[in-house]
Amino acid sequence: MTSAAEAVEAFHATHGRAPSGVWSAPGRVNLIGEHTDYNDGFVLPFALPHRIAAAASARQDKLLTVSTLGSDGRIQQEGPFELGELRPGSVQGWAAYPAGVAWVLRSHGVTGGADVVLAGDVPTGAGLSSSAALECAVALALLGLDGRAEPSLTERAEIATWAQRAENEFVGAPTGVLDQTASLCCIEGHALFLDVRSGEVEQVPFDTAAAGLRVLVIDTRAKHAHSESGYGDRRRGTERAAGLLGLNSLREIEYDGLTAAADRLPADLVPLVRHVVTENRRVLDMVELLRANRLAETGPLLDASHASLRDDYRISCPELDVAVDSAKDAGALGARMIGGGFGGSAIALVRESEVDTVQQAATTAFERSGWRAPRMFVAVPSAGAGREHDTSGVLSPG
Ligand code: GLA
Repeated sequence: MTSAAEAVEAFHATHGRAPSGVWSAPGRVNLIGEHTDYNDGFVLPFALPHRIAAAASARQDKLLTVSTLGSDGRIQQEGPFELGELRPGSVQGWAAYPAGVAWVLRSHGVTGGADVVLAGDVPTGAGLSSSAALECAVALALLGLDGRAEPSLTERAEIATWAQRAENEFVGAPTGVLDQTASLCCIEGHALFLDVRSGEVEQVPFDTAAAGLRVLVIDTRAKHAHSESGYGDRRRGTERAAGLLGLNSLREIEYDGLTAAADRLPADLVPLVRHVVTENRRVLDMVELLRANRLAETGPLLDASHASLRDDYRISCPELDVAVDSAKDAGALGARMIGGGFGGSAIALVRESEVDTVQQAATTAFERSGWRAPRMFVAVPSAGAGREHDTSGVLSPG
C-alpha cells in the first residue's frame, strides 16, 4: 500500500470519516554539498521515492490534532492543541514537528484548525530527512486546507524556509534549508542544484539508469549520542570563522582565497573552513559533469567529499567509514557519507552489474565489525512534495 493510502486508512480509523485531502513529501539523498547549506553555499540533493503522507481535514474550531501510524500498525494521536497557544517548547516529541509547522503558518495567514494523520516509509534516524518530509507534507496539507493553490517553484522554496523555521525555532534543531528545499522542489529524474545564498535553483538531469549506474544508499543504522551537539558545534565554528574574517558567511571565500583566509584564522577553525570552501567547489564540479553527461566520472568527487567530512569536518564515524571503504573495495566508483554525520547513511555510485557485490561486501564488513547489518536500497531520483490526486475515491468532498 502507498503511504497516501495508508494515511487515508489511518484517518478513517482515527476520525471515522474520510479526509478531505492527502498531501505527501519525500525524503532526500544529498548527492554532494554537505554542511554547506548553513554557510550560504551550494547543495545538490535529489528526492527519494520514500514519502510521508498527511491525510487531513479542516476543523471548525482552532484546534490541531496530529496522529501517526507506527510501523507496528498502531496509531498514536497527540493534541488537540489550541493553535493560538502554540509556543516553542510547548509540544515535545514527534508532534513538535507538525505543531511547529502550524505555528509558523499562522504568521502566513493560515489559522484554521485541522485533523492531520501521518503515514510513511521514509526511514527514520537514517539521515534521509524523514523530519523534513513530515514538515513539508504537513505544510502543504495546512496550506491546501486553507484553499491555497498548488505552489509554484518559487513558492515552494519559500515554504521550505517556513518548514526550516519550524524546525529551528519550534523544535529547536539548528539545521539548514537543504532538506526542506529538496523535499519541496526536487523533480523526478533530476538532482536539484541550489544556491542557498541567492535561492536560485536548477534542475540537473540525473539519470543513473541511462548511464548503467545506480546510487546505492547504505543506512548504517548507527546514531552516535553526540550527533546533535556535533552538528551545532560545527555550525557555530563556521559562523565564528566567518565573523572573524568579517564575512556574512563562508560562501564569500573563493576557492583561490582559501589559503589567505586560513592565514587569518585560529588553527582549530581552518579545517572547518577548508571543508566548506572545497565542498562548494566539488558541487560546482559535479554539476558540470552532470550537465556534460559524464556521470561515470563523478566518483572521485564523492570520495573527496567523504575524506573532507571525515578528516577536516570530523563528522564521520566507524560505521560510515566502513560502509564507504567496503563499497569502494568492492568496486564502487565513489562513495561518501551523507547528511548531518555521526551515523545515518552513506551513498555509493555503483555499476548496475555490481550492486549485489557491493551490498554483499558492506554486509560482510559490518558483520566482521560485530555491527548489525546495514539497510540498503537503490535510490531513484523521484518527485517532490505535492497533493495526492489518485486516492481511489476515498476522499470526502471539500
Ligand atoms: C542535516 C541538516 C541539513 C544539512 C545537512 C548537512 O541534514 O538538516 O540542513 O545541514 O545535515 O549537509
